[in-house]
Amino acid sequence: MSTLKDKFKIFEDKDKAAELGGGIDRIEKQHKGGKLTARERIAVLLDKGSFVEIDKFVVHRNSDFGMENQRILGDGVVTGYGKIDGRLMYVFAQDFTVFGGSLSRANADKVKKIMEMAMKMGAPVIGLNDSGGARIQEGVESLGGYADLFYLNVMSSGVIPQISAILGPCAGGAVYSPALTDFILMVNQTSYMFVTGPDVIKSVTHEEVTKDDLGGARTHNATSGVAHLIAEDDEHAMMMLRELISYIPSNNMEDPPIKVCTDDIHRVEEKLQTIVPADSNKPYDIKEIITTVVDDHRFFEIQPLHAMNIVVGFARLGGRSVGIVANQPAHLAGCLDILSSTKAARFVRFCDSFSIPLITLVDVPGFLPGTTQELGGIIKHGAKLLYAFCEATVPKITLITRKAYGGAYDVMSSKHIGADVNMAYPTAEIAVMGSEGAVNILYRDANPEEKQEYLDDYREKFASPYKAAERGYIDEIIYPKNTRYKLIEALEMTQNKRAANPPKKHGNIPL
Ligand code: HXC
Repeated sequence: MSTLKDKFKIFEDKDKAAELGGGIDRIEKQHKGGKLTARERIAVLLDKGSFVEIDKFVVHRNSDFGMENQRILGDGVVTGYGKIDGRLMYVFAQDFTVFGGSLSRANADKVKKIMEMAMKMGAPVIGLNDSGGARIQEGVESLGGYADLFYLNVMSSGVIPQISAILGPCAGGAVYSPALTDFILMVNQTSYMFVTGPDVIKSVTHEEVTKDDLGGARTHNATSGVAHLIAEDDEHAMMMLRELISYIPSNNMEDPPIKVCTDDIHRVEEKLQTIVPADSNKPYDIKEIITTVVDDHRFFEIQPLHAMNIVVGFARLGGRSVGIVANQPAHLAGCLDILSSTKAARFVRFCDSFSIPLITLVDVPGFLPGTTQELGGIIKHGAKLLYAFCEATVPKITLITRKAYGGAYDVMSSKHIGADVNMAYPTAEIAVMGSEGAVNILYRDANPEEKQEYLDDYREKFASPYKAAERGYIDEIIYPKNTRYKLIEALEMTQNKRAANPPKKHGNIPL
């Protein structure tokens, strides 16, 4: 009869075997490739010692292709829960050392279990992806596993935050689970995502492209807009995830976390008085205004490399989490176009799902003209942003720093579409279009002298915030130097806002 000691030894051996995953050689290979293992990543991500692993001894149930002789405890994914800054998080980390982190039925069931628990407990799910995709030896069982996860991703959307880090390969249909989550972070040089890889592309379209150009971190952060964040290595990635989650509540019933604010809420910034140039055609960097104003000058930008004519991201004001949407005059003059409208619309909807107030900084000369935009469907894509701002019921605070022209004035969280507080700098110009354009249309045949007169007249009448202020479309005109306090004051005023849209199954945002 085995003794207690024997029984504990069996447990200890199994536990050690599970911890080793695919073995020392494969762990070394992972390290040589500049990557951490699944367990190492979790250890960096979560508060020290907080991780509780579940299903550590789960194995696959496949007996084809000799798989009955290859059962590795845990089956290629580490799952469980732990804490970030003391807050409950659910985590799964694919273990590339075990069958390339590929997804088996058993493996999918482990992820499914923690996703279901996360929904019940109202806590975020963070997925650390590093996988060769569907477990080739399992076929449809694996595909079914993916589909189960897609379904849960969609059911969880808007209920609990879901965040994906791509830390290795992510190909084929496997990309769609991260794509259904709220944020995708990729690591430079070691991660890639694509539906069909370079070899398939070559055989079908004869295009030659490297893995990195097709689906690397830069490609998806800058060009496709599939990813939202880029990290230099795994450690950096885990730190970024920790910061990201600090701005977001754990579920849609909770308020965003409030941090103690040690930055003076009355801080007056003289430098803000001159950031917006007197010449309205001169560019300036809107991020300078943002970082000057927010708590501790800390702005956590989302998609900084994509559609740079709009800036979105998280910050705190007086300790409260806010989502910032701002036109960027330093890029394409801050015009709205297809990519920027789509980028901002998704961000606005995320903030609205999770009760994060929206601060909108406006300096927009209008929609970008051109056939590429029109034929590409700017009408439909621009409407996304309009739709997103209209349906958002979180506190909406808007500050016009300079131009607010045409339809873009309406779109950028104007009073008319439900903003709660609308402010403007004295440098604001709120009009149907820029003065030159207006005069050229209205007085096409006028001589240059007359045109100049009309121009001066139009500028005086419309190139200011006062017409809008006379109508009450702007609540208050403020000195730039007071921006920080005025925004915090508006946030405080709106903190108990109650607003709801009419009951419906769901709206029909132009996709
Ligand atoms: C089973 C897999 C696997 C998979 C990799 N492995 N992918 N095992 N199923 N999908 C195993 C390898 O056999 C190898 O085992 C180990 O993982 C490491 O893989 P390597 O090839 O040595 O690593 P590397 O050179 O870094 O290449 C990684 C890779 C490559 C690019 C991911 O493994 C690869 O192309 N894998 C197949 C990818 C794929 O076609 N997956 C199906 C996609 S379709 P050993 O024992 O040698 O260490 C899909 C559909 C999802 O996922 C649909 C959802 C709707």
